[in-house]
Amino acid sequence: MNQRGVTVWFTGLSGAGKTTISQAVAEKLRLQGYRLEILDGDVVRENLTKGLGFSKADRDENIRRIGFVSHLLTRNGVIVLVSAISPYSKIREEVKQKIEDFVEVYVNAPLAVCEERDVKGLYKRARAGEIKNFTGIDDPYEAPFKPNVECRTDLEDLEESIAKVLKKLEELGYLN
Ligand code: PPS
Ligand code: ADP
Ligand code: MG
Repeated sequence: MNQRGVTVWFTGLSGAGKTTISQAVAEKLRLQGYRLEILDGDVVRENLTKGLGFSKADRDENIRRIGFVSHLLTRNGVIVLVSAISPYSKIREEVKQKIEDFVEVYVNAPLAVCEERDVKGLYKRARAGEIKNFTGIDDPYEAPFKPNVECRTDLEDLEESIAKVLKKLEELGYLN
């Protein structure tokens, strides 16, 4: 299929729904025959950025590397779905500047909701002091100022979130 490349960048707190939405969007697009890749923080940190931790410097390096790979794929016509907390706005802007075709999705749920979900039990461990520098607990999250899409995952269900992302991609001319 002749397709335009684009980076769809999902940012948000742990437990906000980045992985869930990006995987669901990927599934829908794949069924329609699009070529795509997912770069998920948890996966990337096992290979491309293995060894990096969660200091500001390490998070920025993680995002820079993800952005680099995403750029290469995007300019070769791949739809790239990035799901990474990417808590710092400056490095997000830096990546955005480099990638011409870029859609920012703010996956937004209040901290209390993410903590209540506690999908991986990490919030509990962070509250207990077993994990340091945990985003939202003792580390910052700088929300996007003007995202292309905002998914309020505490108020909308997964299907609505998926639909919002696909609608924006369609509007911007990335879907055939
Ligand atoms: S970042 O900030 O963009 O570099 O983070 P990312 O690469 O997305 O990795 C986030 C996942 O790492 C796990 N984890 C933590 N998250 C936040 N803070 C701390 N200290 C931390 N330690 C481990 C967690 O599984 C994150 O995945 P998600 O999917 O967001 O829950
Ligand atoms: P993240 O990757 O941001 O840490 P996950 O996708 O792992 O988040 O977890 C999000 C959790 O929130 C899942 O348990 C998911 O079922 C739930 N959830 C509820 N509503 C939504 C929604 N609209 N979009 C995405 N996830 C949702
Ligand atoms: Mg995730």
